[in-house]
Amino acid sequence: MRTRTFAGRPVGAVGLGCMPMSWAYTPAERDDEASVALIREAVELGVTFLDTADVYGLGHNETLLGRALSGLRDRVVLATKAGLRPEADGRLGRDGRPEHIRAAVEESLRRLGTDVIDLYYLHRVDPAVPLVDTWGAMAELVAEGKVRRLGLSEVTVAQAEEAHAVHPVAAIQSEMSLWTRDPMGVPGGTAGGSLGAGELAAHGPGDVVGWCAAHGAVFVPFSPLGRGFLTGTITSADFDDADVRSRSPRFREEALRQNLRIVEVVRRVAERHGATPAQVAIAWLLAQGEHVIPIPGTKKLRYLRENAAAADLELTEEDLAELDAVPPPVGGRY
Ligand SMILES: NC(=O)c1ccc[n+]([C@@H]2O[C@H](COP(=O)([O-])OP(=O)(O)OC[C@H]3O[C@@H](n4cnc5c(N)ncnc54)[C@H](OP(=O)(O)O)[C@@H]3O)[C@@H](O)[C@H]2O)c1
Repeated sequence: MRTRTFAGRPVGAVGLGCMPMSWAYTPAERDDEASVALIREAVELGVTFLDTADVYGLGHNETLLGRALSGLRDRVVLATKAGLRPEADGRLGRDGRPEHIRAAVEESLRRLGTDVIDLYYLHRVDPAVPLVDTWGAMAELVAEGKVRRLGLSEVTVAQAEEAHAVHPVAAIQSEMSLWTRDPMGVPGGTAGGSLGAGELAAHGPGDVVGWCAAHGAVFVPFSPLGRGFLTGTITSADFDDADVRSRSPRFREEALRQNLRIVEVVRRVAERHGATPAQVAIAWLLAQGEHVIPIPGTKKLRYLRENAAAADLELTEEDLAELDAVPPPVGGRY
């Protein structure tokens, strides 16, 4: 596996999002034993940049990772997140209060079975709490040795600057893929809903990918496969009610049908390389900069292997131009 660098450490150029093992997609297919085996196999393949969050399955995902990494902990960069919590109605709300962060890190460390988290993200900025207060509390965790580096998720360039003035931003994780290019300063993925409202929805984030390159931070595209859509395996809006895509505007039947035009382009490029659409979607992200580390999510071993192999897929200038020109998506992200 080709490597990229996070905070001076080599990591596999393709990381792993662990969320689908506990949350969000195709709940009937979850299998803890298979997930533990998958995470261990990922490390053997060189997929060593691992992503979770305290809210994925309300702790379940961190516990899974903790189990899977027994004996392997030092071989991976382990990233988790804080700053969200479930509301009474089951939806996720933001909580950036320093006392929440201080309690959350203890829970994450316990579940992950480790004494230090390599990368600790603020999952969302809480508009009710000054960012410098939340970030300052996170910086104290670095000073206390509980956390090595800090990251932000779904922020604007202005918010990154504000945090960076207090403590270095080592990573920014935002949704980015062939159908969501907002962090490149290309608006289009209209953010809304409980997790996308506010400044981001109003003006877009700005060129966050460029900001990371200029400030020595990695950029981590989340949902790099467009929540599975860009792989070409989703052709109708037939989702379980508990699958978050059943509530996503982009996955409603009519929008989905129109969005298949995007997949057609990805498939065409893939055929030229004897690759899969998923691999092309990942390789396009890797081509956006040496500091970009995508984290495709999966709970299936065959997808893990397929996605890891995308690190070796070199797209040509012609491929990139064709992919850059895919039609804009129909429907918002949330
Ligand atoms: N910071 C944030 O707010 C935030 C938000 C969302 C996600 N994330 C992180 O980013 C990670 C990745 O994003 P994501 O999981 O939302 O979406 P994604 O990686 O775009 O897509 C995941 C979906 O694609 C399917 N899939 C994976 N590889 C495939 C392949 N080769 N062929 C066909 N289907 C494939 C998976 O199926 P199976 O489930 O069946 O394997 C899963 O349903 C998450 O796991 C999480 O760690 C962060």
